[in-house]
Amino acid sequence: MFENILSGNTYKSLVNGKWIESNSKKTIEIYSPVDKSLVGKIQAFSKDEVDKIIENSKEAQKAWGNTPINERAEVLYKVAALLDENVETISKIMQKEIAKDSKSATSEVKRTVDFINFTASEGNHVEGETIGADSFPGYKKNKISFVTRIPLGTVLAISPFNYPVNLSASKIAPALIAGNSVILKPPTQGAISALYLAEIFNKAGLPAGLLNVVTGKGSEIGDYIVAHKDINFINFTGSSEVGRHISKISDMVPLLLELGGKDAAIVLKDADLDLASSNIVAGAYGYSGQRCTAVKRVLVVNDVADKLTLLITEKIKQLKVGSPEDGVDITPLISDKAADFVQELIDDSIRKGAKLIVGNKRKDNLIYPTLIDNVTTDMRLAWEEPFGPVLPIIRINDMDEGIKIANESEYGLQSAVFTENINDAFYVAQKLEVGAVQINNKTERGPDHFPFLGVKSSGMGTQGIRYSIEAMSRPKAIVLNLK
Ligand code: NAP
Ligand code: G3P
Repeated sequence: MFENILSGNTYKSLVNGKWIESNSKKTIEIYSPVDKSLVGKIQAFSKDEVDKIIENSKEAQKAWGNTPINERAEVLYKVAALLDENVETISKIMQKEIAKDSKSATSEVKRTVDFINFTASEGNHVEGETIGADSFPGYKKNKISFVTRIPLGTVLAISPFNYPVNLSASKIAPALIAGNSVILKPPTQGAISALYLAEIFNKAGLPAGLLNVVTGKGSEIGDYIVAHKDINFINFTGSSEVGRHISKISDMVPLLLELGGKDAAIVLKDADLDLASSNIVAGAYGYSGQRCTAVKRVLVVNDVADKLTLLITEKIKQLKVGSPEDGVDITPLISDKAADFVQELIDDSIRKGAKLIVGNKRKDNLIYPTLIDNVTTDMRLAWEEPFGPVLPIIRINDMDEGIKIANESEYGLQSAVFTENINDAFYVAQKLEVGAVQINNKTERGPDHFPFLGVKSSGMGTQGIRYSIEAMSRPKAIVLNLK
């Protein structure tokens, strides 16, 4: 199945339906965060090669844009079926390349199968409308607008390391069903996993040129691709810093940005504390906290703070730590640099008087699950996104203080509120400046047909299957003027 993508330990890239090497012969070595072993090398494409790759994509899109939607959907159904046959293969690659625990890695690929199937069927229902002029004052029935949705052209999909398969496919599939071609710029650490996904699309019969993968460091070729004149839409998931940079250098190109977060779990006095603590631990420590929607702070009213902290502590102590293939919960972080940053935030909070409850133990890029109580708003951990297995407890007097602290964040991805009182739940939810609020559940993106969005530094535009298809297409109006 994947014999074409690898030559020795060097991965090629999919361009125009073929697996090719960069003319520069330059490659980037990818080492496993688990044991620092070499996973493989990927191509480092140069800027002049990027021009040719985008030109090829633009050419291929012309025929695809005129392909009936039901035929586009058929290709996606085949992609999903082929992906389903290769779940374990790709899961194992991810475990090695991004140290994703086996359960999360397998679930990511299976979720992507469902995502692509749902996108194929949803694409068949993206329709237009007809509008009569006479509903507007002064007009007669002799003018009618026929509105359909058409593709934008070539979509640039840029995905993050923590979901190199799902957050690549969540851009590629909706873009394709809408009639676009796609240039995928995968994360460097995660590129190999994304290349396996690309071969699935290729082997399932996606016409050549509709999915071209440009591997290479974002810091080296990223700006060039983003600012390229033939890119018609940019679908980016990643850090707020890079997202903000992309929004500055892209020139009148529509954007979909899913960025960082600092999701708060607000726990009120009457909350079901067992439910809250289970959801908070799952939300905070899943994939070692490397999720944009991870629970990244707990705002709990004083009346129940001690009890909740105890319950969370007990559940943290049940978390297993080790290598991805051992079916554990906590695995090494993506890099030593990432681990250093998490350690910095832990050290800052303890230095300023916070109370370490459990953890603050580290072995290279492996950080043990850490819980810190009595975190106050003068500490970096109250505001910065660790992207690691550390959770601050901030004690509050009441729900209004919780809303205030939650809204003071630069981020606005999601929040959760735990209470048995529906009026309090909606009172809090309606005041939170975020994309979505979970009532009595951990913050999370799924299910994938739900709208998923961030405000403030957490992004712009809305993901979610139908929302993504609409974002990567546009209305085309043809107005009939009868005599
Ligand atoms: P990142 O460093 O921002 O990188 C994201 C992607 O952007 C990678 O493919 C990266 O390529 C590329 N890139 C970097 N600089 C670029 C440039 N100048 N032009 C074009 N592309 C460029 O983020 P990450 O470390 O992969 O992911 C972690 C961050 O993403 C966290 O902040 C997390 O909250 C956020 N995130 C958000 C969501 C969401 O749905 N809201 C989901 C996942 C992650 P390289 O790998 O080659 O640098
Ligand atoms: O960080 C990835 C972001 O998309 C969250 O996805 O499903 O883990 O909530 P999920």
